[in-house]
Amino acid sequence: EKDGHDWFMRKEIFEQPRAVADSLIGRRTAAGQLQLDEMRLADEELRDVDKIIIIACGTSFYAGMVAKYAIEHWTRTPVEVELASEFRYRDPIIDSTTLIVAISQSGETADTLQAIRHARSQRAKVLAICNTNGSSIPRESDAVIYTHAGPEIGVASTKGFLTQLVACYLLALYMAQVKGTRFGDEIDEIMEQLEAMPGHIETVLEGADAVYELARAHATTRSVLFLGRHAGYPVALEGALKLKELAYLHAEGFAAGELKHGPIALVEEGLPVLCVVPPKGRDSLHGKMLSGIQEVRARGARTICLAEAGDTSIEPYADDLIRLPKVPVLLQPLVAILPLQLFACELATALGHDVDQPRNLAKSVTVE
Ligand code: M6R
Repeated sequence: EKDGHDWFMRKEIFEQPRAVADSLIGRRTAAGQLQLDEMRLADEELRDVDKIIIIACGTSFYAGMVAKYAIEHWTRTPVEVELASEFRYRDPIIDSTTLIVAISQSGETADTLQAIRHARSQRAKVLAICNTNGSSIPRESDAVIYTHAGPEIGVASTKGFLTQLVACYLLALYMAQVKGTRFGDEIDEIMEQLEAMPGHIETVLEGADAVYELARAHATTRSVLFLGRHAGYPVALEGALKLKELAYLHAEGFAAGELKHGPIALVEEGLPVLCVVPPKGRDSLHGKMLSGIQEVRARGARTICLAEAGDTSIEPYADDLIRLPKVPVLLQPLVAILPLQLFACELATALGHDVDQPRNLAKSVTVE
């Protein structure tokens, strides 16, 4: 049942090319128009939306952070991302022109469900992004986009996360199409880039052994930091969450620009720092990331850098280098998270932990 893997998590990591491909099937008409048939939300309703609030927990929340960058960039609609557990306790400003996007793999997360109920009581429309057909969250929402990860057994979400990202990109592009933003013309091109992702994901997974070796080499560390910028920032947070959940290690993700505002004080000799380097196309962002990496390295950190193929400028600052395929910055999370999943899975295995059933955690959190 684990297809020869030791853990469901590892099996699920390797299912990601298929999961992403399945989530893209049937999304374009013969005429090249994007379609989200099952969504049950009329184009007029989407056109009326003047604010989006994404609510979710854990890994799904990090998918929501990436979604904010994509939706705002492609549709120019303001997006907030909020932890579902905080949402209804702060008297949020919502009305019938607010679209709530609730992201949940299981569809049973109590914090998210309660937030949905609150939003609907204020007349906001709720769109669920969910992996579980007929679960509570899609049932209590006005509309749904299903992800096609297939059942996720490992407590740590992996393919669930990737397919949530795909659903968020599709929603963003669909809104751009409906609203007729200037990115409308680029939808085809971005869809082609998305359709190339399963192949890119395969390529990164083919390099798993090198990542495993790095993970085992760091198995005795007490703490690991993750740095990212732009869409790489939520990837850093998600990489840290994976390590906390599975290896019970102190792990923290930071936006690299925040380093000098405090976190750099944590850096000491030999501290492993995993750095998600943005693609070179975005030069100022890339350059700023490089200087953040230099700063931690100058203070003794051991830098493990994830950087796109052909980016030689990173070489002098990387103690170890993991190559990523060349993809646009907004889509980079789909490939950048993979080495971090593999790293956490292998490090926890090396420590002798139960990767599929980490201590104190449940697959769906049905209490607030
Ligand atoms: O089923 P959901 O997506 O609503 O679950 C949300 C979180 O509980 C979940 O992502 C959790 O953080 C995972 N264990 C992460 O690996």
